[in-house]
Amino acid sequence: MFGRNGFSVALVSRTQDRLDRLATELNEAGIDAAGFAADVMDRQSLAAAFTRINDRFGSVDVLEYSPAPHDPVPGITMAGPLEATVDNLQPQLDYYLYGGITAAQQVLPDMLKRDSGTLLYTTGGSSMDPLAAPPEFATVAVATAALRAWVLKLHQATAGTGVYAAHVPLFVWIGTGGPETQADTIAQRYWDIYTKRDGAEHSYAAP
Ligand SMILES: NC(=O)c1ccc[n+]([C@@H]2O[C@H](COP(=O)([O-])OP(=O)(O)OC[C@H]3O[C@@H](n4cnc5c(N)ncnc54)[C@H](OP(=O)(O)O)[C@@H]3O)[C@@H](O)[C@H]2O)c1
Repeated sequence: MFGRNGFSVALVSRTQDRLDRLATELNEAGIDAAGFAADVMDRQSLAAAFTRINDRFGSVDVLEYSPAPHDPVPGITMAGPLEATVDNLQPQLDYYLYGGITAAQQVLPDMLKRDSGTLLYTTGGSSMDPLAAPPEFATVAVATAALRAWVLKLHQATAGTGVYAAHVPLFVWIGTGGPETQADTIAQRYWDIYTKRDGAEHSYAAP
């Protein structure tokens, strides 16, 4: 959606060849896009990716942070409240909260200087409502709730400036139901959030 509206797209994940394939698809649709491999658990790699992004595309106008550990991420395990320990919660915090803050640190100083920019953070619904997911999502819920709290505070701190931050908790399983679960519909919602710049949080649920 952003690419269709004239944005260049910098894709970040761990797997360069997957990023290259996605960037090629976007290029074939007439969108300027490129992939920059980095691991949100490795803060230096994330910072280095943003240096390369700035070199390639210039300043970042919109940051969207939404990693999901469908492929194994070392240290990340699911744990219910009875199994939660400092040791299995810490990687979740690294992944969601510290990764999210590190990504913001790469773009926020410039956005604040330009008085322009948008930061959108996506999580699952358990960040907002821990009971929306089964017990084994306990450490995910805690870590994404921490990220949510930070994003809402960022929204508050940047209110009245040209920088806009918002949290988008998804209460749907993407692609598993009707049109409202499909990527294009969800992308339209992100575009609306970006253009309207209204409110700190936009939960997304199927009607
Ligand atoms: N899928 C759902 O139904 C659903 C439901 C509720 C909320 N959400 C939220 O929606 C967002 C997208 O989820 P999705 O399911 O659509 O995921 P997805 O398509 O698999 O995208 C997640 C991306 O995160 C990357 N990633 C994973 N670990 C990473 C790491 N350590 N460092 C950098 N990148 C990493 C993955 O690439 P690599 O593995 O190659 O690094 C992948 O490109 C997430 O915020 C998720 O919480 C999804």
